[in-house]
Amino acid sequence: MNTTPTITNKDNTNSALISPPISSSKTAINPANNSLINPPIKLGIMASGSGSNFEVIAREIHQRKLNAQIQVLIYNKPQAKVKDRAKNWNIPAILLNHKEYQDREKFDAKIVEILKQNQVELVVMAGWMRIVTPVLINAFPNKIINIHPSLLPSFKGNKAVENALEAGVKITGCTVHLVVPEVDSGEILIQAAVPILPNDNLETLHARIQVQEHKILPEAIVLAAKLDRK
Ligand code: GAR
Repeated sequence: MNTTPTITNKDNTNSALISPPISSSKTAINPANNSLINPPIKLGIMASGSGSNFEVIAREIHQRKLNAQIQVLIYNKPQAKVKDRAKNWNIPAILLNHKEYQDREKFDAKIVEILKQNQVELVVMAGWMRIVTPVLINAFPNKIINIHPSLLPSFKGNKAVENALEAGVKITGCTVHLVVPEVDSGEILIQAAVPILPNDNLETLHARIQVQEHKILPEAIVLAAKLDRK
């Protein structure tokens, strides 16, 4: 008997999107004149790896589905594929190698300097695999979001997909949340659920989670841009 839970959304993609019921739909954007009414939100993206989430943001901006512009990409691993994606989109990419900094605070101070130089309004941690400190968090209060591959508060940390598999849960997913000093613990903006299938391994499960990440991250950017709190 197949005991896998089935959660089906209207796209029949075996997932469930959970977000606050506010009128912040991306479809509210009128591409023809929106930038005159609402200037595009200026994003700074931080990434450490492949950058598939970066790619989705860049593509949705290009397709005028998301009223934003990427001011700068900061990446911390010299070989990270995300830098090639930035080049393809003609987006400035700056390598800050954490190994060259004395401590996390000095590293974050440099990040802040670059984000401010680039007039960034909202910071998106899109696969940023470093713990950040109050030096960064306090420089952008309520304006840093992070995407995490689990249904927080379950499976915090950098082995979220692996830990969900090991725990034997039947549903996991992804979360976009505000960044606070405690790791993976800030206010949740949006989540999507993903069933774990009987034969899933790390790769197959992470791939299906990423399909959902690519849907919720642009939505979360719109939500976060509308939060106006100190
Ligand atoms: C994403 O799955 C994201 O959730 C995860 O890294 C991946 C980056 O993918 N982030 C974390 O685990 C943060 N703790 P990408 O480089 O293809 O966007």
